[in-house]
Amino acid sequence: MNEKKIILITGGAGFIGSHVVRLFVKKYPRYKIINADKLTYAGNLENLTDIEKEKNYIFEKLDIVDKDAVFNLFSKYAFDGIIHLAAESHVDRSITGPEAFVHTNIVGTVNLLNASLNAWKDSKEGKLFYHISTDEVFGSLGEKGYFTEKSPYDPKSPYSASKASSDHLVRAYGHTYGLPVIVSNCSNNYGPNQFPEKLIPLAINNIRNNKPVPVYGRGENVRDWLYVEDHAKAVDLIFHKGRPGETYNIGGNNEWKNIDLLKLLCRIMDKKLGRQTGTSEKLLTFVKDRPGHDLRYAIDSSKLRNELGWEPISDFSEGLEKTVDWYLSNTRWLERVISGEYQKYYQEQYSGR
Ligand code: NAD
Ligand code: TYD
Repeated sequence: MNEKKIILITGGAGFIGSHVVRLFVKKYPRYKIINADKLTYAGNLENLTDIEKEKNYIFEKLDIVDKDAVFNLFSKYAFDGIIHLAAESHVDRSITGPEAFVHTNIVGTVNLLNASLNAWKDSKEGKLFYHISTDEVFGSLGEKGYFTEKSPYDPKSPYSASKASSDHLVRAYGHTYGLPVIVSNCSNNYGPNQFPEKLIPLAINNIRNNKPVPVYGRGENVRDWLYVEDHAKAVDLIFHKGRPGETYNIGGNNEWKNIDLLKLLCRIMDKKLGRQTGTSEKLLTFVKDRPGHDLRYAIDSSKLRNELGWEPISDFSEGLEKTVDWYLSNTRWLERVISGEYQKYYQEQYSGR
């Protein structure tokens, strides 16, 4: 890949963003990758220590809600493309505090759209605003059926409502102002570097520490799990080969009831920790359900597979085992996240720059 491009990746210090940044920095040495992130509790620059010194990588601390700061960044760099991942992303937090979701996910997205429109007012040729979204915008499925790109939006949590709103705005800017936009809606991701408030890393950490693992309701809710690197590869493919104006669904074709997933995880943890089979499963503890808990998400990703040739390569038990291995051999990362120490990293590494 010889072409030069300047690409803005928002939210690159987060879970999925850090995998997307790493893939782009390594795969496209002639691109300049600007990772702009506010470093909220979910942003962790320690996710990127392996690539932070690369010549084609720059970190910019940015709150996308701050319109002036967003416009300043766009006057500093002549972006050819934006891959927008920055968001408040945790459903439980959106239930206790929806406002941050409205600010970051909706207002922040509008600021980026306006800045792109302004930056590309003379020519939109070859430019792209790529918005990363979730399958949760489609609401909840019953026992059968799949979300396709044509499924109606029916978000049920403040998180999914804010993401749905941002998706609509992105498409409206495409339709109304001719901004070249693409949206992708992905199912639940798992893998290294996920903040331990989400189901899989939370369970790994609690099992490791012999603490109860909270199972919401009866554990009957179904999610379609995708290994984070498979998502990052889909993002790369869509960014380069996707058609502006289109939407792509991304999913693992890998549905699990929470309780079955946790039992599999417990078996893997028993093996890895040298515990007797069945030991970790005793930690599973049914707790009060999440309010408005969506029953089932499942994605039909045939458009992405057929049109762009994407395939998730990771087998789930293998991916889960790799994830467990990562957390067990990165306990320092985990401890620093839990203690809050990771938030000092920016100050230590970037102060005075
Ligand atoms: P995350 O919570 O791990 O990371 C979010 C990142 O955004 C953090 O680095 C945070 O500091 C940054 N951020 C938050 N508010 C910001 C602001 N105001 N300005 C600048 N940066 C800000 O999230 P994730 O799980 O990596 O998700 C990334 C994106 O992918 C989100 O848009 C999410 O909706 C979407 N998504 C996530 C999943 C999933 O399973 N995690 C699935 C589908 C889609
Ligand atoms: P989560 O990782 O928060 O992702 P999302 O809500 O975006 O799907 O939760 C995944 C599933 O696991 C969801 O059905 C809620 C459930 N869950 C638990 O049962 N216990 C937990 O401690 C957490 C965090 C989630």
